[in-house]
Amino acid sequence: SFYVIGVDLGGTKIYTALAADDGRVLSEIKLPTEAGRGLQGVIDRIVHSVEQVRENVAVPPQKVLALALGAPGPLDTAGGVIHFAPNLRWNNVPIRQILEERLSLPVLLDNDANLAALGEHVFGAGRGCGNMVYITVSTGVGGGLILDGKLYRGSSDGAGEIGHMTVLPDGPVCSCGNRGCLEAMASGTAIARAAAELVASGGGRKILAAAGGDPGRINAAAVAAAAAGGDPEAAAIIDRAAGYLGIGVASILNLLNPAMVVLGGGVMEIGEPVWKGVRREVQARALQAARSRARLVPAELGGRAGVMGAIALALQEIADGNCLP
Ligand code: BGC
Ligand code: NA
Ligand code: ZN
Repeated sequence: SFYVIGVDLGGTKIYTALAADDGRVLSEIKLPTEAGRGLQGVIDRIVHSVEQVRENVAVPPQKVLALALGAPGPLDTAGGVIHFAPNLRWNNVPIRQILEERLSLPVLLDNDANLAALGEHVFGAGRGCGNMVYITVSTGVGGGLILDGKLYRGSSDGAGEIGHMTVLPDGPVCSCGNRGCLEAMASGTAIARAAAELVASGGGRKILAAAGGDPGRINAAAVAAAAAGGDPEAAAIIDRAAGYLGIGVASILNLLNPAMVVLGGGVMEIGEPVWKGVRREVQARALQAARSRARLVPAELGGRAGVMGAIALALQEIADGNCLP
């Protein structure tokens, strides 16, 4: 028997889990990313969390065969380098080399949303579904494509960057520097920004109250809470974001005609108000041929999709003979 470790490095949290060779999670830990403290601080946290999950179950270190890490942003899976992580403000970080040196473990790297797609495909809502698209709507908006049963990475690992499709040409500036990306319109960050602007211009009283009266603490959760309490301004912000998400989903359906689109991430936890806007735009914009058989479903693994996908990737690579000592 052997073990693997999965790490999901997100803009707001680091989720680490140790699993047995059948994918069963034996130990897990979640820490805030606090990317503002810089690269070194985040690396230290990853290392610490890995040591922690190893100690929790007291498995002999040599029985842990691989670690797979999901990271936000375009990256080089073969070289182990993160090119650009907009929400961490990282550029060209050779993360594999750094972690292999500190942990003495083979490290695999992939995009966070790609791994969440794999996680949902292997362990979650997309089990047995060979053509599925996963979209995460959180700090950023990311995507992962399972096509003909396999994770599709594109010619240079850049496939599935759904969050940076332009949906409003002159829209707000995105984390990537472009304007009007889906991420700039529908992410948790975008919802918070729209609310903060409303408050700055004298509106959004209920939203401000939900943020404890502190404009600096306005986030998507505060907007969702205000909307749930019947505030029409908050509801409008969520509906607008959801509508743009639906526009993105409609384009994906038209392009790929998947059997399933799985939607996950913190913003999807707002629930029905978001689904309503998504369904409305999909109905209006996706071709009948592209949408008639497609099921739109919530992620089954919730916040664990990414870490479960990392575990799935590590197990897959070991099965393929790529990580054996
Ligand atoms: C990045 C994606 C990532 C997504 C979710 C986006 O800004 O470009 O690679 O999957 O955020 O973290
Ligand atoms: Na992706
Ligand atoms: Zn962008």
